[in-house]
Amino acid sequence: MSRYEQLLATLSREPHTWLVTGAAGFIGSNLLEALLRLDQRVVGLDNFATGHRRNLEEVQRIVTPQQWEGFSFVEGDIRDLDACHRACQGVDYVLHEAALGSVPRSLKDPITTNGANIDGFLNMLVAARDAGVKSFTYAASSSTYGDHPALPKVEDRIGKPLSPYAVTKYVNELYADVFARSYDFSTIGLRYFNVFGPRQDPEGAYAAVIPKWIASMIRDDEIFINGDGETSRDFCFIDNVVQANLLAAVQTEAEARNQVYNVAVGDRTTLNELFAMLRAELATNGIVRERSPRYREFRAGDVRHSQADIGKAARLLGYAPRFSVRQGIAKAMPWYVRSLTAAAG
Ligand SMILES: NC(=O)c1ccc[n+]([C@@H]2O[C@H](COP(=O)([O-])OP(=O)(O)OC[C@H]3O[C@@H](n4cnc5c(N)ncnc54)[C@H](O)[C@@H]3O)[C@@H](O)[C@H]2O)c1
Repeated sequence: MSRYEQLLATLSREPHTWLVTGAAGFIGSNLLEALLRLDQRVVGLDNFATGHRRNLEEVQRIVTPQQWEGFSFVEGDIRDLDACHRACQGVDYVLHEAALGSVPRSLKDPITTNGANIDGFLNMLVAARDAGVKSFTYAASSSTYGDHPALPKVEDRIGKPLSPYAVTKYVNELYADVFARSYDFSTIGLRYFNVFGPRQDPEGAYAAVIPKWIASMIRDDEIFINGDGETSRDFCFIDNVVQANLLAAVQTEAEARNQVYNVAVGDRTTLNELFAMLRAELATNGIVRERSPRYREFRAGDVRHSQADIGKAARLLGYAPRFSVRQGIAKAMPWYVRSLTAAAG
């Protein structure tokens, strides 16, 4: 049995109380679903800035009524310290996901991004410290590697941030580290690399590439590739991210605490390859599209290549991704086809 499978079995036997911030968002709602399925008690905190009530409603439909009773929701803003204190009461483990994602959004409006991602983050650290939680696991980001050219990315070699968003995620790491040293507080930062899966929002100006392209393909809209399509990413299916969060939260070994870890698969997929994979998987789901992508300018703030070395997470957390990009796309596609064709009809 893997370390993760053992953990799942242990958690099912011994329920704990978890706080998931950003619970109405993509990653948060998947964490919520996984925890409720394990019969855990979960508090959610969200202000619906980019998340949706429909994500919570979908989780409610998926879990049993009894599991859903284990969920309580605080509608609030992490920029409000009182809301953070309320949400942290009686909590064992914090999974802090709430933030404003997207590099372009942060370039357009750095002040709002800074408010949620730095002021809000600091509030959550203070509230979690005051509540005496067992651990604080937070969403860091591969954007912290900035302009460092090395591939694959190793945790202790970072460059200069390329966007305000990247600055905020790096500041999170600095604050978490200082809290660990100053208040004997237990933190782990997970540097996610391009996560994808069900409930990732396909709409809006700041949608991520996978849901955006799937939605465009289903609608048979034009798809734009920024640059020549040889830009590459280490796309990571949501199940792997859930695994990393649960392993990190309960990790008590001193050597593994107060660290940051890459969370990805350790692979690299170009945008051209991604386009072909999505089109093939959509065809497997009965929707055949012939249109070729249109190429346009590179996008400001984007790094050219990104690929994680996941050795540290494997070694210290027992992280072992269960889904490749292709397997993740195969798992996610039916959800997109269902939800987007239902929305159209
Ligand atoms: N999706 C990725 O590929 C990726 C990659 C690296 C890091 N991350 C990080 O993972 C976390 C979750 O991202 P996601 O993809 O699920 O995005 P998301 O937008 O779907 O979820 C974020 C959630 O946080 C909530 N939120 C935002 N500001 C808030 C505030 N001030 N108060 C309370 N709630 C607030 C939103 O309403 C939303 O529900 C974020 O911290 C993001 O920066 C994501």
